[in-house]
Amino acid sequence: MDSEFVIELEHVYVTYQTHLAVKDVTMKVRRGEFLALLGPNGAGKTTLIKTILGLTEPASGKVQVFGVPPRSLGERRSWIGYVPQATKIDPNFPIRVFDIVLMGRYGKIGLLRRPSRADKEATLRALKMVNMTDHVDRRFGDLSGGQQQRVLVARALVVDPKLLLLDEPTTGVDVTTSTSVYDILTDLHLQGVTIVMVSHDVGVVSQYVDKVACINQSLVVHGPPKEVLTEEALSDMYGCAAMMFVHGPMPHMVVKKEMAGVIGLEDVHRRKE
Ligand SMILES: Nc1ncnc2c1ncn2[C@@H]1O[C@H](COP(=O)(O)OP(=O)(O)OP(=O)(O)O)[C@@H](O)[C@H]1O
Ligand SMILES: [Mg+2]
Repeated sequence: MDSEFVIELEHVYVTYQTHLAVKDVTMKVRRGEFLALLGPNGAGKTTLIKTILGLTEPASGKVQVFGVPPRSLGERRSWIGYVPQATKIDPNFPIRVFDIVLMGRYGKIGLLRRPSRADKEATLRALKMVNMTDHVDRRFGDLSGGQQQRVLVARALVVDPKLLLLDEPTTGVDVTTSTSVYDILTDLHLQGVTIVMVSHDVGVVSQYVDKVACINQSLVVHGPPKEVLTEEALSDMYGCAAMMFVHGPMPHMVVKKEMAGVIGLEDVHRRKE
């Protein structure tokens, strides 16, 4: 892996039938960078992550991951850990927490090989990182939403990824779990793992990342949060009057009350009243 960039997107367009989901996105993610992908519902964030993974083919444009098109990654696919957005696993499907995480190793194990002791140890290590060791033998479907989310983070970590893609890993989890996810990501960032995380927590995520990319079909802005999260950018992205104040350690956003619901901030307003 010589390239300075782990992900390179050039004039990428993605369509579903006639619907244009991603429009002319050009962006590079440097090795070791922690990037937050922000944008309103339906902006194309998940689509972009799936395009990076090669699960969705762009209609046009160029996508390179570790210097090659995603579908040509071969064994390097196991360098990527992926936490999909709110996975729905049938609650009655009798699969254990341990096995869900072990499945994350399959890129590495190869489908024909039996899991080795190293695979099993890596599974337990990953579960320890997300503080779920006590739940290894429980049925995945019996866990709470936040516990399931932690297990899915463990499944992405079990490959010792060089690139970690997370699609809203903190949505629907409590503050403690969310903070522990950020703690894990901060550690991995320090170890040089490249991280791309989709999030709606504009204020919180800005404290942790090197850069943010705001998309709304096309790329609205891309750069360090303090430089790019301006009133104009947020207003372009969410189509409402929003303002980001960056003072002190925690940037926060002020929105017109009537627009708060649109971007999921109605609770903030309620608490203030
Ligand atoms: N499989 C699909 N078939 C048809 N349209 C799709 C499909 N997946 C996504 N879309 C559409 O493409 C657009 C982008 O969807 P995407 O899931 O990428 O948005 P998102 O930014 O991840 O939104 P959210 O914040 O709600 O997760 C939306 O208009 C969505 O309806
Ligand atoms: Mg999404």
